[in-house]
Amino acid sequence: MRETIEKVKEEIKKASISTVEQLEEYRLEFLSKKGKVPALFLDLKNVPGEMKKEMGQAINEVKKIAQERFDLAKGEVQEKDSKEKRDFVDPGLPNIPGKVGGRHPISIVRDKMIKIFERIGFNISHGPEIEDDWHNFTALNFPPDHPAREMQDTFFIGRDPDITLRTHTSSVQVRVMESEKPPIRTLSPGRVFRNEAISARAHCIFHQVEGLYINKGVSFVDLKQTLYHFAREFFGENTKIRLRPSFFPFTEPSAELDVSCPFCKGKGCKICKGTGWVEIGGAGMVDPRVLRNCNIDPDVYSGYAFGMGIERITMLKYQVNDIRLFFENDIRFLKQFQREL
Ligand code: DAH
Repeated sequence: MRETIEKVKEEIKKASISTVEQLEEYRLEFLSKKGKVPALFLDLKNVPGEMKKEMGQAINEVKKIAQERFDLAKGEVQEKDSKEKRDFVDPGLPNIPGKVGGRHPISIVRDKMIKIFERIGFNISHGPEIEDDWHNFTALNFPPDHPAREMQDTFFIGRDPDITLRTHTSSVQVRVMESEKPPIRTLSPGRVFRNEAISARAHCIFHQVEGLYINKGVSFVDLKQTLYHFAREFFGENTKIRLRPSFFPFTEPSAELDVSCPFCKGKGCKICKGTGWVEIGGAGMVDPRVLRNCNIDPDVYSGYAFGMGIERITMLKYQVNDIRLFFENDIRFLKQFQREL
């Protein structure tokens, strides 16, 4: 009997248990009702009386060892098994699409505007955000000390009154006219800066799109038709436009551009303050002085120009009621435009 007990004890120690299957085999072999440990207890019947106590203790010892071995191995095997399951990669599973970032609404609208004008022959030009007085003001016919300069509160770079952050993208039309010969048909999107108090309706940084067309015989009709085309392409084909007389130093005549309110379709609502119209930019025929400043002969060439605010147009298109949202980079706001990609 003693030998059998020792033998079972050895077997228990030697059993290899490193998988779930081996664990179950071990349990069946030693611990289950028909296993070797319960069998030892059955054998105890045949042991002579005076030996029973000693043998009983020895068998109990084996049972304890068998159970401890089982419990320990169970913990190890289960941990290994769950790790394997966690690490398991099934190459046949469909791909989980990764999260991609969205585009900013201002970029989306800027590109939509560019596409519309590219289709009718405009190219794209860029200029520096840090400008000199000539390109931002003087060449555009802003006389020195003219109040029109104050219409656009300017940020200066350092103490030099000649170097500014551009207050409008009209500066780019000067650069293009200086460096290219007509015909010129160009669109200049970009960031502009004004020293203004930040509110729901105004910001010190915003974006504009400037348009310029110079050729022989360009008239106000061309300007009006181009703006009408843009308005219908961008806001929908029933959109109407209205040009109100206005003043800009660099255009003569000058106009402010309104479109019929995209929300109430011109009936009058809160957005258009009951008028049925909303303003989206300025426009006009390039002043002959500006052409001359850029070495283009106004007796041969004429042209039109227009400028529109991208934030303003985006706010109208997507019913955004606070311009500051475009600069806060709140992901909850930006996410709403992702499907517009
Ligand atoms: N530069 C003007 C502004 O920032 C917008 C503008 C008006 C541009 C009329 C033009 C134009 O080219 O013809 O307010």
